[in-house]
Amino acid sequence: MKILRHPSEVFPPIAFARREGASVGLVPTMGALHAGHYALVRQSASQCDKTVATIFVNPTQFAAGEDLARYPRTLEEDLEGLAAAGADFVFVPKDSDLYPSGFSTFVEPPSVSLPLEGAFRPGHYRGVATIVLKLFNLIPATSAFFGRKDYQQLLTIQKMVDDLNVPIRIEACDTVREADGLAMSSRNRYLSPEDRQRAVGIYRSLQRTLGEFNSGVRNVSDLEAVLMRSLHDCNIDQVDYAKVVDAETLEDRTKLEAPAIALVAARIGKTRLIDNWLLGTNGA
Ligand code: PAJ
Repeated sequence: MKILRHPSEVFPPIAFARREGASVGLVPTMGALHAGHYALVRQSASQCDKTVATIFVNPTQFAAGEDLARYPRTLEEDLEGLAAAGADFVFVPKDSDLYPSGFSTFVEPPSVSLPLEGAFRPGHYRGVATIVLKLFNLIPATSAFFGRKDYQQLLTIQKMVDDLNVPIRIEACDTVREADGLAMSSRNRYLSPEDRQRAVGIYRSLQRTLGEFNSGVRNVSDLEAVLMRSLHDCNIDQVDYAKVVDAETLEDRTKLEAPAIALVAARIGKTRLIDNWLLGTNGA
């Protein structure tokens, strides 16, 4: 696996591979890698001739007061894991190389980015859309792999690519979970042992909501009430949102008629976690 550190080093080898007719998969990450990230790399390696991972803790997607300074950094382990998962290249740029002084151009993200995370983390998706478009321009990949764990991010990037005619295919990968169901996240390592026990309540509450949906409940406020009550029963009280919305637009519905999704963001101690579960595909 070749480690590329400067933006000027990345484009040539990838463009060369493309000229030779190779397909190239891109897996953007912020490091502190876990099995969820490695699943994206393995999926890329199985579908594409070459796989490029990136590790960059993108400052523009963190609002003031968020965890940018204490975001976990585990570069040596990450590099070993990426090589084992099948990455051919890893791009590890410095902040000042991607955001030199005078940087001032940002992507205005699509409307699907506005509710939910967009409402609770103002500016977050503007930073995500900007860094992802920069990576797409630096690395002329054929496909890019993103996790359903960050479902609104996935929709935001897909829409940005459609709206701006970016010549790359977005591939979605399923959420990888711990044995008890907790969605893997770089932030799980912040959890105290007690909070780790409590955190699985997010998954259990999504499952309870799925159970209601599967037993025929289609009224959104009934489903959201089950979700909220279950979070409360699991001692999760600092809930930013617990919503059931249209899975394509993330718009509110009163009754489900299209594919829907339940999404939760909650604070467990000082750690903010998100998770989601798709509810059927026909809504019938
Ligand atoms: P990061 O949180 O490091 O996640 C990188 C990729 O891994 C994202 O596509 C995310 O959805 C996926 N991922 C995280 N946890 C996962 C899990 N448990 N199962 C499956 N996939 C999972 O998301 C970002 O970084 C950044 O916003 C980024 C897109 C890199 C832009 O800075």
